[in-house]
Amino acid sequence: YSLKVLNSFGIDVSARFFTKINAPEDVDALIQWRAEHTDTPCLLLGGGSNMLFRSGYDGLVVLINLKGRTQVSEDDDAYYVQAAGGENWHEFVRWTIDQGYAGLENLSLIPGTVGAAPMQNIGAYGVELADRMQSLQAVDLLTGEHREFSVEDCQFAYRDSFFKSQQPDRWLIIAVTFRLPKQAQWITAYAGVDSAIAGQEPSARLISDTVIALRQSKLPDPKVIGNAGSFFKNPIMPIEQWHELKARFESIPGYPVAGNNGLIKTSAGWLIDQCEWKAFRDGDAGVYEKHALVLVNHGDASGAEVWAVAERIQKSVEERFGVWLEAEPRVIGS
Ligand code: EPU
Repeated sequence: YSLKVLNSFGIDVSARFFTKINAPEDVDALIQWRAEHTDTPCLLLGGGSNMLFRSGYDGLVVLINLKGRTQVSEDDDAYYVQAAGGENWHEFVRWTIDQGYAGLENLSLIPGTVGAAPMQNIGAYGVELADRMQSLQAVDLLTGEHREFSVEDCQFAYRDSFFKSQQPDRWLIIAVTFRLPKQAQWITAYAGVDSAIAGQEPSARLISDTVIALRQSKLPDPKVIGNAGSFFKNPIMPIEQWHELKARFESIPGYPVAGNNGLIKTSAGWLIDQCEWKAFRDGDAGVYEKHALVLVNHGDASGAEVWAVAERIQKSVEERFGVWLEAEPRVIGS
């Protein structure tokens, strides 16, 4: 079963088995199937926008296609809005804005699905999913147990969660509930948002439109050029190490890490750009011309070819700066 249109890198690989979860009943059938095929690995797929297939998948690929979105409740402070795991993330964000809710606008235009969003705790322009999530409903595919996870249960960290780090593919995220404050707090201090909206009355729609324009100006549209957004995490290091780098490379960026002033986060894009990788191309695998952090497939690159570029970047950044860049998307296969 070809996965080419199911991964945003557009890597042409196949899965041995493939199925879709369209309704809650399908989850029971999946649990049953897995119990009968314990030797067959299983991969849960949302929008396929944070994955690199280095090879085909010798197992069952499960596309989560659960749909639905509603306001579930409200209290004095917030609206609680729920979306099914298979809903498109950006369409859901725009729907909340159309309904008059604020809180998700900074996360506009992030590719992928609602159910995949908690996996790597998606974040952009000063907001992370963890800041807006109330709870999520998931099914343990090993035992069939339905469980509600609070924000604490999810163990969110920078581009990380319980689901990504502990047992990928064990928990199927059925739905996510968001807490959207009635007293909106606009977060505009980040990366060009401020200057773009200067002099205008902030609103969820204005910030969303601004974020969309910013993203479109520097990130490639996966429908046009295959990519998975940022390919590396921004490295977090002890502040002493950053000061040593700063003494040698005056313009190196540094951002505070919430809750820990002994650490500092620098910019992987800057490090890669300094090593002159921007717009690099080897066959169809390469680095986006407007953003050094984004690896791209110009057409027919294999996952191995994209990964080879990633490894060359990791080595050159380590040689020059002594910093090891960690891949951000999930890398499947060897
Ligand atoms: N920079 C360069 N050269 C480049 C790209 C960036 O020097 O080619 C430097 C600049 O100094 C720039 C700084 O890097 O000011 C930061 O760049 P940007 O604002 O684009 O943000 P980022 O740190 O590269 C992160 C997230 C993005 C998110 C943006 C905006 C990670 C790994 N990436 O990128 O998330 O959209 O901030 O909040 O945290 C994603 O995860 O897929 C993703 C796109």
